[in-house]
Amino acid sequence: VIDVAFTRRELRRADVAVVIDVLRATSTTTRALELGFGEVVLAESVDHATAWRGPACVLAGERNCVRPPGFDLGNSPLELPDGHGRRLVLATTNGAPTVVAAAGRASVVVLACLLNLEAVVDALRYCPATVRGEVQIVCSGTDGAVALEDVYVAGRISAELGGERTDAALVAEAVARAYPSAYDVLAASADGCVLRALDMSQDIAYCARESTIDLLPRLSAASSGAAIVTRDVAGEPRRAASTPRPDRDTVGTS
Ligand code: MLT
Repeated sequence: VIDVAFTRRELRRADVAVVIDVLRATSTTTRALELGFGEVVLAESVDHATAWRGPACVLAGERNCVRPPGFDLGNSPLELPDGHGRRLVLATTNGAPTVVAAAGRASVVVLACLLNLEAVVDALRYCPATVRGEVQIVCSGTDGAVALEDVYVAGRISAELGGERTDAALVAEAVARAYPSAYDVLAASADGCVLRALDMSQDIAYCARESTIDLLPRLSAASSGAAIVTRDVAGEPRRAASTPRPDRDTVGTS
């Protein structure tokens, strides 16, 4: 059964959680893994992120869409450098805490955006937990409220998967059908307006690109206030494996 949570508050136990924050946390995470970062640590607060600072680590994130003081980068997928196997620590207001919250509630947690839409749909189609279990597509929303652009992406994924869907999934699909293009919906959203006002329109155009990145960010371990996401390349067997890191007190997710 495919369900959609319109905000983080509706998160519940599921076999698979698909977390969306298309503007911009899940887009930035997907791009970071494509650029060769070895892992992305999504931190639920600036303090949690700062605690992860260390060698071979880039600290990125936003508060009110702007880089926090002392951070190396903001949350733009367009400002990311090549990863060279380093760790990206990403603290964002809505997307990162949603991934952290999902880590405790689903045995498989993956991150979705438009950049990796096809990879996400393919992975879900062939994942045994999806076929037999409960899939919750989780929209991060904005400050506790529904974000149009996340619901749009949820609707696109739900429509592609088909099968048994809840009313919430059908509502998301109706939203997706209402817009002629991904760019239109991202540009029309409140979050899109904020980015435009901050002169970050290029991020909207970039995050609206569809299926240009063939990889699936997937939760590999979690600790208090942080979720570690690594790359699960499309085509590879998709198992609920977890790889706790020796240098952290992590909790596996298999
Ligand atoms: C968030 O997690 O709130 C967003 O990614 C905000 C942003 O666009 O920087």
